[in-house]
Amino acid sequence: MDKGSVKLAPSILAADFAHLGEQVAEAERGGVDRIHVDIMDGHFVPNITMGAPLVQSLRKVTSLRLEIHMMITDPDSFLDEFVKAGSDSFIVHWEGNNNLHRTVQRIRSLRKQVGVAINPATNAFVLEEILPDLDQVLVMTVNPGFGHQPFIYTTVPKIKRVGQMIERLKPGCELEVDGGIDEATAQLTVDAGANVLVAGSAIFGANVGVCAAIQRLRGSIISNGLILRDRQQFHVKKEQLCS
Ligand code: DX5
Ligand code: ZN
Repeated sequence: MDKGSVKLAPSILAADFAHLGEQVAEAERGGVDRIHVDIMDGHFVPNITMGAPLVQSLRKVTSLRLEIHMMITDPDSFLDEFVKAGSDSFIVHWEGNNNLHRTVQRIRSLRKQVGVAINPATNAFVLEEILPDLDQVLVMTVNPGFGHQPFIYTTVPKIKRVGQMIERLKPGCELEVDGGIDEATAQLTVDAGANVLVAGSAIFGANVGVCAAIQRLRGSIISNGLILRDRQQFHVKKEQLCS
């Protein structure tokens, strides 16, 4: 796993929806890798959020990868709609999916990147059979359903176990973490092996502005002695990026 290149995936769940286009554009200027879109149906998780029309609108304002985190009971039924709207990748949950392999192959056949998410109480070993088919694994560091929840620290050893499994079975597969990622927790996850960090509140919910929040989060991460994409370089670029 290349620990020197940690990527940020801001979750728009914490964005100001009245200014979503501008906030996403600011995140893009801040140099994030992708936009994380949380889809909830009120069944799989006790909350509802957005659907494909929002992805369609986002597609018009950003060229960043649109990563769709499907927290819905029947992801298969909605894939075509989300692909048509301009989605680039899908993350589906291990929990509640009796035909996960079929779902993963279906996403592959749509020529989209595919990831599988596991909840905090789910053991890493469930990934073993499906991992060779994946582009990414998402370890939930909160229970899915809401933004702005406190990070669950007991997930850290699991991130490490998933990282080891990736090294063994699918080197190059991304290891993403989602939930409660901020300046206090980001480094812990990177040290455990995460190389993609989802952050909602810490980026779109920050009171310093989106771009400055991205800089702040990056600045908090040092990966195995390697300063994430060079902390100083980001400070120098800050004026330029965040103006
Ligand atoms: C939770 C979602 C997360 C959420 C993260 O179910 O999957 O992506 O938006 O939000 P924060 O960063 O505020 O924990
Ligand atoms: Zn998410």
